[in-house]
Amino acid sequence: MHSVFLETFGCQMNELDSELVRGQLSTLGYRFVNDPAEARVVLFNTCSVREQAEQKAYSRIGIVGKRKAAGETIVLGVIGCMAERDGVDLLRRHPQVDLMCGPAELDRLPQLIDNALRTQSAEDAMVLSREERTALAGNRSRRSSTLAAAEDNLETLDLSRAFDEESIGGLRRSAQVRITRGCNKFCTYCVVPATRGAEIHRPPDHIVEECRRLAEAGALEVTLLGQTVNHYRYEHGLAVTVDGRQAAQVGPGLTAFRSAPPASSRVTTFAQLLRRIHDEVPQILRLRFVTSYPRDFGDDVLAVMRDCPRVCKYLHIPAQSGSDRILKLMNRGYSRGEYVDFVQRALALVPDVCIAGDIIVGFPTETDDDFEQTCSLVRELPFKNNFIFKYSPRPGTVAIDRFADDVPDAVKRLRNNTLLAIQSETSRRVHAAWIGRTVDVFFSDVRAPRISHNQSKDETTHTSAGTHASLMELPQFSAAGSVRVDPVRTEPNQPDDSGSTCWQAVGRTSGDLICSAFASDESAAKKLVGTLKKMQIISSGPLLLRLSAVSEES
Ligand code: SAH
Ligand code: SF4
Ligand code: F3S
Repeated sequence: MHSVFLETFGCQMNELDSELVRGQLSTLGYRFVNDPAEARVVLFNTCSVREQAEQKAYSRIGIVGKRKAAGETIVLGVIGCMAERDGVDLLRRHPQVDLMCGPAELDRLPQLIDNALRTQSAEDAMVLSREERTALAGNRSRRSSTLAAAEDNLETLDLSRAFDEESIGGLRRSAQVRITRGCNKFCTYCVVPATRGAEIHRPPDHIVEECRRLAEAGALEVTLLGQTVNHYRYEHGLAVTVDGRQAAQVGPGLTAFRSAPPASSRVTTFAQLLRRIHDEVPQILRLRFVTSYPRDFGDDVLAVMRDCPRVCKYLHIPAQSGSDRILKLMNRGYSRGEYVDFVQRALALVPDVCIAGDIIVGFPTETDDDFEQTCSLVRELPFKNNFIFKYSPRPGTVAIDRFADDVPDAVKRLRNNTLLAIQSETSRRVHAAWIGRTVDVFFSDVRAPRISHNQSKDETTHTSAGTHASLMELPQFSAAGSVRVDPVRTEPNQPDDSGSTCWQAVGRTSGDLICSAFASDESAAKKLVGTLKKMQIISSGPLLLRLSAVSEES
């Protein structure tokens, strides 16, 4: 029974992929370990979205490479978006890497690992062919509008998911379900369409069934994942698999959203999917979705958010920029005005909805004036938070070929910090409006008194260089139930937080606002994890809302 160490970088898609890989390999008898030093197989599930994310993975690859050079027998595998983006170049430049597998080929990973293990244990050194070492989609997944067999295999991988402690995050009772893969939007800066391939929409029956089984396994919260979830649309009767099941299908072009949602029952829209899960799996107390695209977000979805009590009133809907000129260069397909109109419409239709997003600063040619328009957007709209990234030119994107990366890094850094300060003010305002209210909080973590800042080993486990936020910013229970470090650095001026000697339970509102309750002791804090409670908000700061304290009896 071989031991495997798997480290994940990047977004929630990668988190979910890692979970599927873990399930798949565990079924085959592999044993997962938390220490790379104990592992016979070391896998890095990588992210390519910014250069920094790749550098982090390269440094890990380097460390394992040194151990191999020193004579240790290790199978080193690079999986995920970097494998796909770099392709066989990575193997040439890092010969210590034994195998590579792109996100669209993960069903082939066990075979690749097996090949590598058998080669290493063979008496006579064998040399594997490139095919025996790599599984990459290349541009195959975009070749036609029909599905390649590979995507159906991938659907099988999702369907073979294990419904166990791991799939619901242990005590956290929170799970992720993919609704679409890939992306068809081609924002000029973004590698995702190249690394994840064409947008594929999973059959609604598969999604609902997966939610149901996760709920049966104990999940109280489910997050639906897709790059642009509001573009989910499944047309029934188009294709079935050999065994008569619905097949995944390629997503429609943007024109499909120009007209009103079809009345025909042949189509399942995102709004309908959301309502189906809400109604058919009522055990799920929190139904969330990320990421939304600020275009073609219909009132039908907003109505579901308003009317279905278990659907979270939370929209992660990245604006990316407040300047029309930059939005155009980014090929985002909407103007600032359209973005603002959408947010106003959401605020009007869905009481208490909370808005968050992502912003890129220092996109090529961004002037002070362009940047000021982004600043004013963050001042004007009630963003609960924004993840702010410095533009990073990515090989294989349109932007890197078309525009020089002409905003100096010092300017990017300054804009990043300026915007963070503005966002902090906006967050403070948004949070303050909640003081005095009673809200449902779903607790997911505990925070130990006086967090020490030198637990770097734990921090590496889930770092993701600023990709999908919702996963990064909170401490998490590992499968074993131990507490991970909280990467949120609570500001000293946070209410009552400086040098706190109390245990805290940390959770989120339906709108994804981060809340914390002081607890009388460790067990009172831990008891709350994985529960939904009505709590009163007593004070607030830019990072979190403070709840009334809890004790063991409460
Ligand atoms: N599908 C999502 C985003 C996925 S990538 C959407 O369209 O909103 C997550 C975030 O990374 C993006 O929202 C963007 O803000 C950021 N990002 C993507 N490519 C980047 C790049 N080349 N440089 C800096 N940030 C980038
Ligand atoms: Fe990237 Fe744009 Fe697709 Fe989001 S919508 S994944 S930013 S191409
Ligand atoms: Fe891939 Fe997610 Fe990173 S889709 S490039 S792992 S942000």
